[in-house]
Amino acid sequence: MRSRVRSGVVAAIAVGLLAAAVVPAGAAQGQSSRPAPGGSGAGDAYFPFAGNSGYDAVHYDLDVRYQPPAPAPAPLTGRLDAVATVTIVPTRHLTSFNLDLRGLDVESVIVKNRPAEFTREGDELIVTPKTILPRGKAVDVVVTYGGATGRPVDIEGALYGWVTTRDGAMVASEPDGSMTWFPVSDHPTDKATYEVAVAVPAGLVAVGNGDLVGSATAGGWTTWEWASREPMASYLVTASVGNYELRQTTTPGGLPLIDAIDRDLAPAASAGLAQTAEMIALFETEFGPYPFSSYGAIVDDDSVGYALETQTRPIYSRNASEGTVAHELAHQWLGNSVSPARWQDIWLNEGWASYAEWLWSEHDGRTTAAENFADVMAIPATSSFWQTVIADPGPLGLFAGAVYDRGAATLYALRLEIGEDAFGALSREWPARYKDSAATTDDFQALAEELSGQDLEEFFDVWVWTAGKPAVP
Ligand code: TRP
Ligand code: ZN
Repeated sequence: MRSRVRSGVVAAIAVGLLAAAVVPAGAAQGQSSRPAPGGSGAGDAYFPFAGNSGYDAVHYDLDVRYQPPAPAPAPLTGRLDAVATVTIVPTRHLTSFNLDLRGLDVESVIVKNRPAEFTREGDELIVTPKTILPRGKAVDVVVTYGGATGRPVDIEGALYGWVTTRDGAMVASEPDGSMTWFPVSDHPTDKATYEVAVAVPAGLVAVGNGDLVGSATAGGWTTWEWASREPMASYLVTASVGNYELRQTTTPGGLPLIDAIDRDLAPAASAGLAQTAEMIALFETEFGPYPFSSYGAIVDDDSVGYALETQTRPIYSRNASEGTVAHELAHQWLGNSVSPARWQDIWLNEGWASYAEWLWSEHDGRTTAAENFADVMAIPATSSFWQTVIADPGPLGLFAGAVYDRGAATLYALRLEIGEDAFGALSREWPARYKDSAATTDDFQALAEELSGQDLEEFFDVWVWTAGKPAVP
């Protein structure tokens, strides 16, 4: 199960991609000549230890074996054993570097085929290779690790990461939960390609992102192999395990759809998926070509309490309602292709996805976007709703209602402010210009100003940087 041959070609392609990548802050020419340790964070004020500095992770090859919990009343804990091969490209000469990993036991770390020293500090796995890693030269880091799985929670107390369920696992990791199941540079500014193989007891299905490479059963275990050939932010990686039926179809537009529907759910639970192809067609006219090579849904009979837009394959808790399906689909352009450069920029994800729900509702002959906007603007100025500063909601406010609804209203107001033509251009150019990348609220304002020819400083001040109810433009 662990003896898959790594393809040198994949690493070579990944390194080729790096040439076009943006040099991260702090990697200025002058400071990179002397070898030094990498840093423990990507510079995110909300999650200072998420991601790392001193290198870019360009590819992950994850080889996982997972034993779900024994039947009830046994405890809800599984067993995960894995080998992660992470291809990193140092952005300076490195004496040591960090990966993010929470819990689990590390058995060994091998760098350039030689055993490396490693220590654990909090959520940091600090690796000291035998020799200095020169800037710009890709190296493979092979981490062998494993342990018991549980039901981790984020800083708000919501389930996330590798969430053990009775018949498998739900894996949904926004914002920094991927570190609960693999060593990772866990920040959306460090996107990478992925090959994920998950071995589960035969009869169960493991569903990842992107394309299904294949599955093979031997000795009572089935290994499911998935490949994400487009770069992906770590929080969007999934490898959910369950009693799924796989349904493979193609949209009229030619996009492969792979849905994984829990066999223990009634048909109504996935009825909201029925119009997926029509939603893709609508959003392609609004936001440009669908950004990835496949799509689909995971509908589990267990729950983490929310749905997540895991790249190419959103995961739903017990029920995929039509509005939520539209929301998670829109995230593929808005959140996944262009991701938040800092977690405080989350309104750019949730505002756009909520606005897209309004577009779908209008297209489908129900509530129009104008009516949804009017509903938000009908919330009294005295309501605490208007107290969230959506461009800086705080780490505990990432998923506050206003991030979604004021976010959507802000985009609708911007449409009124700059007009249909400029807003249409912005809707297509935002995911196009920052495709496979990450951007900030200031980047968004700059693009809106570029495409409209208007100075939008005052508009952004009032709508996203200040508490209080704005006036309709
Ligand atoms: N980003 C998810 C969505 O809007 C929602 C989400 C992720 C969430 N983590 C959460 C919601 C925790 C509430 C609590 O599709
Ligand atoms: Zn969302």
